[in-house]
Amino acid sequence: MSPLDLIVRNGTVVTASGTTRCDVGVLGGRVVALGEALGSAAEVIDASGLLVLPGGVDTHCHVEEPQADGTVHEESFVSASRSAFSGGTTTIICFTPQFRGEGILEQHRRNRERAACGMIDHGFHQIITDPTPLVMEEELPQVIADGVGSLKAFLTYDPLHLTDAQFLEVLVAARRHGLMVHVHCENHDAVAWRQAAFLAEGHTRPRYHALSRPVVVEREATGRAIALAELVKQPIQVFHVSCAEVAEEIVRAQARGLHVWGETCPQYVTLTAADMDRPGFEGAKFMCSPPPRDAVDHEGVWAMIRRGVLDVASSDHCGFSYDGDRGKAKNGRDASFDQVPNGIPGLAARLPILFSEGVSKGRITLEQFVALVSTNPARIAGLAGRKGCIAVGADADLVLWDANKRVTMTNVLMNHAIDYTPYEGMAVTGWPICTIARGVVVMRDGVVTAQPGSGRWLERRHVNPGPML
Ligand code: URP
Ligand code: ZN
Ligand code: ZN
Repeated sequence: MSPLDLIVRNGTVVTASGTTRCDVGVLGGRVVALGEALGSAAEVIDASGLLVLPGGVDTHCHVEEPQADGTVHEESFVSASRSAFSGGTTTIICFTPQFRGEGILEQHRRNRERAACGMIDHGFHQIITDPTPLVMEEELPQVIADGVGSLKAFLTYDPLHLTDAQFLEVLVAARRHGLMVHVHCENHDAVAWRQAAFLAEGHTRPRYHALSRPVVVEREATGRAIALAELVKQPIQVFHVSCAEVAEEIVRAQARGLHVWGETCPQYVTLTAADMDRPGFEGAKFMCSPPPRDAVDHEGVWAMIRRGVLDVASSDHCGFSYDGDRGKAKNGRDASFDQVPNGIPGLAARLPILFSEGVSKGRITLEQFVALVSTNPARIAGLAGRKGCIAVGADADLVLWDANKRVTMTNVLMNHAIDYTPYEGMAVTGWPICTIARGVVVMRDGVVTAQPGSGRWLERRHVNPGPML
């Protein structure tokens, strides 16, 4: 065999299907050999005492995303790449917005340009908020031809949410083109009704964000999304499932043989609605939708992860700072809860939290962890075999992981452009020591060395696993 570019030696290789002691040989950015005595290489990394994991795949990140109010998320593709590599993630799937009354081509082109400045391999979900014939019949095929393999539909938020009729149109288009559909499930009218009632009574504090979005509005929208997907026979993934009661809707769908999957996020196994009750305006730092629930729900989410019902954990990383022009406090620290941008940052925190709360605390196995944060998201994104695995022919995206390292999380460690982390002060066991993207060391001991512009566009095709039964 010709000399390799890189050999990662003496590590314990973990994949979704098993754990083994072997070396990993890399040539031309891909894994070309797994075994022992792999010969010589230009670079050898000793991974003694470390786990060797496939790079994290985060299929739900809001990065440098233009907003309807004309602002853009503060996290750029460059800063997001830095943060992702710091936390052991090597692939991200972000979003291209559509604003009502507008097409999607120009936003897609600009998003490609922005993302090309970053260092991380990336793809997009195309958000549809206004499924006009022009968009669905003429423009959508063009972004699909460029490698967009999935759509995102919101059943809540002004001005993003779709009516049921519009959602059906999105599902039908996805089926026709072989796309995956990811859905934010909360009942828009019910949330609006709750919000109006609280505001009329003068309740404006962040805690009313959680109270205006109770489990029932998430459960109802999840059940409805599944029913409409069943009608069209279109697979869907329900985004950011916050608790077992909602996941039960997915259990029932899967029992009927439907292609319905569930994603959850670190915030639903760590944060609670009580965090929004913190003094001053601090509660705004924990405001995301659906809102974090409580400690009992954390265990419910873990149980659904163990059962494979929630088989993906993404960050839902959202690039809003606390202070600053575009931050959560931009309308003032006494702004009412409905004026605060939703979403929290979590790109770098995702793997450490899920490893620590999951593997270190004995809730899931190492292999389940790898499946949850890397292999399953890669599969659902249409990237199986290329991302999310350590296998001959796959991209050499690797993370060297110290399973015993104890770290107290701080915002500095997140290495992002956001001025806070909701996980400040949280102790975790397990931390990425070195991240390798397509055979190149991009992070070592928290220092990111990747060059801006090195991230690749991931053409995603054949994402839809086929019609439902
Ligand atoms: O609160 C959240 N999750 N914000 C990000 C946008 C979304 O809903 O995914
Ligand atoms: Zn959402
Ligand atoms: Zn999101």
